[in-house]
Amino acid sequence: MNTRVLTGITTSGTPHLGNYAGAIRPSIRASTQAGVDAFFFLADYHALIKCDDPQRIARSRLEIAATWIAAGLDVERVTFYRQSDLPEIPELCWMLTCVTAKGLMNRAHAYKASVDQNLLKQVDPDDGVTMGLFSYPILMAADILMFNANKVPVGRDQIQHLEMTRDIAQRFNHLYGGEYFVLPEVQIEEDVATLPGLDGRKMSKSYDNTIPLFEGGARALRAAVLRIVTDSRAPGEPKDAEGSHLYTIYRAFASTAESAQFRAQLEQGLGWGDAKQLLCERIEQELAPMRERYAELMAKPERIEDILQAGAAKARKLSGPFMARLREAVGLRAPAKPAARGAAKDKGAAGGKARFVSFRDEQGLFRFRLLGTDGQELLLSETFDDPKAAGRVIQALRGSALDELLSLDGQSAALSVEGRVVVRLAAEHLPQVREALAELAAQ
Ligand code: TRP
Repeated sequence: MNTRVLTGITTSGTPHLGNYAGAIRPSIRASTQAGVDAFFFLADYHALIKCDDPQRIARSRLEIAATWIAAGLDVERVTFYRQSDLPEIPELCWMLTCVTAKGLMNRAHAYKASVDQNLLKQVDPDDGVTMGLFSYPILMAADILMFNANKVPVGRDQIQHLEMTRDIAQRFNHLYGGEYFVLPEVQIEEDVATLPGLDGRKMSKSYDNTIPLFEGGARALRAAVLRIVTDSRAPGEPKDAEGSHLYTIYRAFASTAESAQFRAQLEQGLGWGDAKQLLCERIEQELAPMRERYAELMAKPERIEDILQAGAAKARKLSGPFMARLREAVGLRAPAKPAARGAAKDKGAAGGKARFVSFRDEQGLFRFRLLGTDGQELLLSETFDDPKAAGRVIQALRGSALDELLSLDGQSAALSVEGRVVVRLAAEHLPQVREALAELAAQ
């Protein structure tokens, strides 16, 4: 089985050059490796914990999604989704909350740091601490355990959260007597670039020393590069390349040979102004084509939305059935009938699965069929003008109880979605349709 690699990106900021070199670029590269199934998601529930500005949240979601796609993420290959499109995440979060010791959360660094600051200020220890902040690690555990990720690439500040995730997973497995969750491992990339910011400290929004990635275009990037702090050596004087932030940033974008050349130029007295010019050009080589794609995506948010919806559908194929299993494990639902399980196995042996098949008819209109496990047609849809409408109806059929959509008139049955009849069929075929839909829901 492939290794599952999963990471989340909190949607509260605008990606900067440090995010790109330190997280986005290495993650995208890692996702193209053979034997890896990558899951990348927008952690927008997490964003709510630190940001209560709806516009910022909405804007950041677009910026971050557009950045990852523009930077070359293959959304067909990986599973790229938005956390809040998966209702299974908060559901699992609650199950995990119910098995997590409060004492474990008391020990979380982020929470303890808030408490320490409050003590220093001589206010209530929990002043300004929301339950969201306090329970943050449980939501993160739900993200990771939902997909049974093997590896979680994160920054060092997240190591403790991974340890807590393992604790929580073990506790659940133990309580409910099964190997429901695999224990994820933290992955700290030692050799990815940590870029210095304008002032030489680590590039970070909280230090206000960032170089913008795409926002503001090439001009904003250039303006920031010009503000990188250097020493006061004049043109002609040899520079200490190793000790300069400029060189560190250059290396994150250049080949070894290019870096060696840049270094030699600095040591031979290249002026800082010229050095900044060369740095801009080198960064632009890599970013300019991406920036164009970024701008196109930002101009068409509905395109981003489509990609996220497709990603959510892909993710829910895994999270839906797994959640059903967990509901059974904790006793919220009765276990599926052994007969149904047996049938599912048989179907596996016969090689067939119930499925929807979409097609275009002679008039160029869109329709779909539902096929049973034996490949027999169980129903044929009405026609749709566009494939997305047909797709939405399929989603609705997959996601609803049949009876909610059903109306009966003597021997004929109709299924309606959003007030429109989308399928007509003979009532006698309903049991098979019902069975196929149940089987689809369990896939
Ligand atoms: N807490 C992570 C951060 O701040 C973001 C995150 C949320 C995450 N859920 C996750 C990372 C799951 C990895 C896996 O960076």
